[in-house]
Amino acid sequence: MTDIKKGLAGVVVDTTAISKVNPETNSLLYRGYPVQELAAGRSFEEVAWLLWHGELPTPDELAGFEKAERAGRALAPHVKAAIDLTPVTSHPMDVVRTAVSVLGAGDPRAEDSSPEAELAKAVSLFAAVPAMVAYDQRRRRGQELVPPRDDLDYSQNFLWMTFGEEATPTAVDVFRISMVLYAEHSFNASTFTARVVTSTLSDLHSAVVAAIGALKGPLHGGANEAVMHVFDEIGGADRAEAWLDRALAEKRKIMGFGHRVYKNGDSRVPTMKAALDRLIAEHRAQELLALYETLATAMDARKSIKPNLDYPSGPAYRLLGFDTEMFTPLFVASRVTGWTAHIMEQRAANALIRPLSEYVGPEERHLP
Ligand code: SDX
Repeated sequence: MTDIKKGLAGVVVDTTAISKVNPETNSLLYRGYPVQELAAGRSFEEVAWLLWHGELPTPDELAGFEKAERAGRALAPHVKAAIDLTPVTSHPMDVVRTAVSVLGAGDPRAEDSSPEAELAKAVSLFAAVPAMVAYDQRRRRGQELVPPRDDLDYSQNFLWMTFGEEATPTAVDVFRISMVLYAEHSFNASTFTARVVTSTLSDLHSAVVAAIGALKGPLHGGANEAVMHVFDEIGGADRAEAWLDRALAEKRKIMGFGHRVYKNGDSRVPTMKAALDRLIAEHRAQELLALYETLATAMDARKSIKPNLDYPSGPAYRLLGFDTEMFTPLFVASRVTGWTAHIMEQRAANALIRPLSEYVGPEERHLP
């Protein structure tokens, strides 16, 4: 019997220069820089450039990128029309997946896979997804589209377009940190999906749409939304242990915990938890903190399974005011940088991704 590596667990299928996930040292490097250092003081715009180009931008490069990003912030009419065609009962991941697909269908560079065109499309997506997500939340609340503001940076503008008011400096910084931490994580399921699609020489938007589909699943990006459903189901810290015992007895996967690569905790969690603590203080959300800590302690005691990034991100996005179903689209807005960096890397040294399988069906037989 062949040694099947189900889920490709532990299988190295290619090289990448974009990020290094190291479970031994519990660390994550973006083009060599520890993600904690980037989260401490670099804008999401600078981190996006780093992922695409391999180096942080010079002041002139950053100015040029910020100008291009601002030029792409407004929700394009045909994309808004596509969003308006999807019922407000649709899942927001289906809406952003559809909106990205329509953006690609209307992009004159869609079939141009030159490095310049790929980068331009990546920048266009980076700029456009916030408007899609912000508008989708607002329309569900019966609110009108809020146009972007050029005097705000990426994070400030994302929150402005979502809530129609300027966010506090703490809210903006916590949001920025979440975008930096979610941006890139080597060959996770959605990124590998994007690389598989790219390996057939399909186009960038098709690869990103496929990646959004993969990210939606609760075993992957959908977990940050699912964490808050768990919190809402539990209700309060005093009910957390009993809830967990029942859930584990039912063999449920507890959302926000565990990881395929990190087995002693997700390297990004301490940074995101520190950011969450700043929001908890600003909102005096002590009950939320108590539930967060009680559940994490109980999970560690019972299963020795640690939180992943989705565990602190979910409560942070709740405190920032996002509707729960919008959390994974926020992950899309961030990870579109890592996805497009991998799409460009795959295309630059491509080989069709086509693994083998071991047949276990009926032996050859013939029709009567
Ligand atoms: C992300 O890959 C990436 O880099 C992803 C990501 C990124 O940035 O792109 O980091 C983002 O997707 C984070 C993960 C978000 N998903 C969740 O929080 C969903 C809950 N987590 C689990 O489903 C699970 O931990 C996975 C899917 C994340 C990883 O699972 P593995 O590596 O496939 O391991 P497994 O499911 O085989 O679990 C091993 C054991 C099992 O017990 P036994 O059946 O052997 O007795 O650990 C148990 C599992 O039941 N286990 C859990 C658990 N995670 C593992 N039990 C309960 N709750 C959990 N969360």
